[in-house]
Amino acid sequence: MSTMVPIAPGAEPDSHATAIAAERRWAWVVVAIMALLVAMMVFTGLHWSAMPPSRVETVDVKTLHLKGEFVESNLGTSVGADGKVTVRLVGQQYSFQPQCIVVPAGIPVTFRGTSTDTIHGFVVGRTNANTMLIPAFVSTFTTTFPKAGEQLMPCHEYCGTGHEAMWARVQVLPAAEFMAKAKPGERLSCVPR
Ligand code: CUA
Repeated sequence: MSTMVPIAPGAEPDSHATAIAAERRWAWVVVAIMALLVAMMVFTGLHWSAMPPSRVETVDVKTLHLKGEFVESNLGTSVGADGKVTVRLVGQQYSFQPQCIVVPAGIPVTFRGTSTDTIHGFVVGRTNANTMLIPAFVSTFTTTFPKAGEQLMPCHEYCGTGHEAMWARVQVLPAAEFMAKAKPGERLSCVPR
């Protein structure tokens, strides 16, 4: 940084001092950026520990395949009496259950998912349907798929040696076609190809 360079004839005599001043200004900028980042970490740490996210839902990993919301027969897409569309899914090393998910286009869909073993995650194609699946917690979000078509749904949290082979398919059907298939009390899914 401070290599002494002989002053070239005709150069500003204090160019070395100018360089040092510039270095010093930049050092202060870096210090300010680091101080800002540390302040943000402290603030968010205190803020979130004082105000944890609401609606934290837990589930017992040991019994989730035996009883409750995430038994195998309850996984897949359901349409409630109120018309609400809900997808329930489970991630496990190294697959999603169900392997093929059916959703309607243009209608809000609520995902509810969890994991039986380690942290998984998924994203549906290039949509904003994207979450982590964490053992003992229920992840939930609601989104609307704008257009029909088939999307890939890979696991996006490294979960072990089979991680890259862990994915499902999502069939987004036109709303009318979806509603024609959906029967009250039934769970929809599709056959993976
Ligand atoms: Cu499951 Cu990566």
